Amino acid sequence: MGNFSFSKLNREQKIKYLGVYSNLDSDDLDVFDNYWYKGSETYKNLENISENVVSHHMLPFSVAPGFIINKKAYHIPMVTDESSVVASAASAAKFWNKKGGFVARVKSKIKIGQVHFNWPGKFSLLQKQVPQIKAVLKLSVASFLSNMEKRGGGIKEMEFLDFTQKIPDYFQLRVHFDTADAMGANIINTCLEAMATSLKDFMYVHFTGPQQHCDVLMSILSNYTPRCIVESTVSCDINDFKQISGDMAPEVFAKRFKQAVNIAEFDVFRAVTHNKGIFNGIDAVLLATGNDFRATEAGGHSFAASKGTYKSLTSIDLSDNIFKYTLQVPLALGTVGGLTTLHPMVRLAFKIMNKPSADVLMQIAASVGLANNFSAIRALITCGIQKGHMKFHLQNLLQVFGANEAEKVQILRFFRNKTVSYAEVEAFIRSLRT
Ligand code: MEV
Repeated sequence: MGNFSFSKLNREQKIKYLGVYSNLDSDDLDVFDNYWYKGSETYKNLENISENVVSHHMLPFSVAPGFIINKKAYHIPMVTDESSVVASAASAAKFWNKKGGFVARVKSKIKIGQVHFNWPGKFSLLQKQVPQIKAVLKLSVASFLSNMEKRGGGIKEMEFLDFTQKIPDYFQLRVHFDTADAMGANIINTCLEAMATSLKDFMYVHFTGPQQHCDVLMSILSNYTPRCIVESTVSCDINDFKQISGDMAPEVFAKRFKQAVNIAEFDVFRAVTHNKGIFNGIDAVLLATGNDFRATEAGGHSFAASKGTYKSLTSIDLSDNIFKYTLQVPLALGTVGGLTTLHPMVRLAFKIMNKPSADVLMQIAASVGLANNFSAIRALITCGIQKGHMKFHLQNLLQVFGANEAEKVQILRFFRNKTVSYAEVEAFIRSLRT
């Protein structure tokens, strides 16, 4: 592309360029405009959240109705590209609501930021100064944190770590933050960078010779959040599974369910898929509420591997004929800041849920994750996953082939008890149309 700068082109020029470069026809070019929402100033502002915007990308905004979580009902907005995720969450909620619903609690809500620095001194020397350094660093960020402190957040701990055995001269400052209702990535990074500058100044003033020079490598929050944990649990009498176990005896259903979970406790191939099913639900809530699903996924999967092997995020207990199923997952979520004020659909999502606090949103997202996982395992150990998926797959194919109402009736009837495949649906539609 030489010196050419795509970002310098205006929207029309960008589209024209893509048209030529990617050989797009006029129908393709129309799509840029057809999906470009010009409705309001808000959307114009939203375009500033990314770069080189040429159109908008839409995903369905759905609602999983009536989840009972800690005895309160929530209609939960979910944004997902995957068929059956919303239906699975809703069907699990329908079952568990009758058994008292989901019981959820935030166990802790601490996020960690790191200042990585090189310093040519002994850790013992640094340690002697730690109380004074902490006081100076705290002071350097006091103005940034005053609002957060009013909401119960702030810096909860600071520690210096010696990694010189791994890399000569390399130390780390770890700062533990409680960011109240904000996810807090921005405020944490702002504080860390201010602390890094103060740390350098402190070293310059309080040491002599080469030790005056502290080289800050980088300052950034960590997306590993093992102290930002939420737990959601469902439980029922094993006999209650009669309602959903079909031809299977309820105790056989519970035993098979337990085995499926136990496999995900030692077999990484199964564990990753098991946890992916949990994130089907969690990510959909995060997208609907403008939260950072990449950070949450990274944190969740690393937590799943925190004991040395990657494991299921859920645990199961069948003692005393009671089925007790729990999800424990790190979720660093926010209900203020970022997209939560900018995006009209995100604002609406929060209103639908009666403006939950960050703690409540964590409880909601974890409960939806547990619901999705429950539905997936229930299907897998009974009728198989494809039966449910196929219904949605068929609906998608009806769209793809532009089936009219009369064709839809015939196709749905024909495929009611048959395996759905693209080729077979295409052949059947062709036979209807000739
Ligand atoms: C598909 O999106 C999710 C599942 O694979 C989850 C699982 O296997 O537990 C069905």
